[in-house]
Amino acid sequence: MTERKILIYPESKNKLRMKSEPVESVSSGVKKIIKDLKDTIKEHEEGIGLAAPQINIHKRVVIVCLGNDQNGDWEAGTPRALINPQIIMEADERKDFDGCLSFPGLYGETIRPHKLRVIGLDESGHSFDEVFQGFNAVIVHHEIDHLDGILFIDRIKSPEDLYRMHKKPSGEIVKVPIGVKINPL
Ligand code: NI
Repeated sequence: MTERKILIYPESKNKLRMKSEPVESVSSGVKKIIKDLKDTIKEHEEGIGLAAPQINIHKRVVIVCLGNDQNGDWEAGTPRALINPQIIMEADERKDFDGCLSFPGLYGETIRPHKLRVIGLDESGHSFDEVFQGFNAVIVHHEIDHLDGILFIDRIKSPEDLYRMHKKPSGEIVKVPIGVKINPL
């Protein structure tokens, strides 16, 4: 078990903004990074993706918990690693839900491609060429952004698209725009 501390914005802003370097091969060192990412995300049940720079390793390695949304109910799957992922086609930009373990409690609506063709290496070192669709494309795009120091707040177009979730005493969960006081009623 090698759970690592996730870098939080803005305290670790400079480290989160750094560009990550490609890896040469899926060495034992890279496998260790993947294991650390998986062990770390396990501790965060809301986590559906994590990039190596978020645990202060500036290598182009991410994990994504892709789901199946064929029935309309999206559910996260088991973590899978994408190594040196490179986008070669993106299409179908739409607004969708976003959040990040480096921004605890903060959520938003970002515009991202919902169709994404990506090449890279898998955990075994084999190359892949795959098309991700829907919310899976959003997750992969978000994680690849981290490798270039791009954060989800950069993709928020309007201030009211950034909010916190607040649970009312009634149990109802409401969106509270940033800068607006939470009304306990
Ligand atoms: Ni993130």
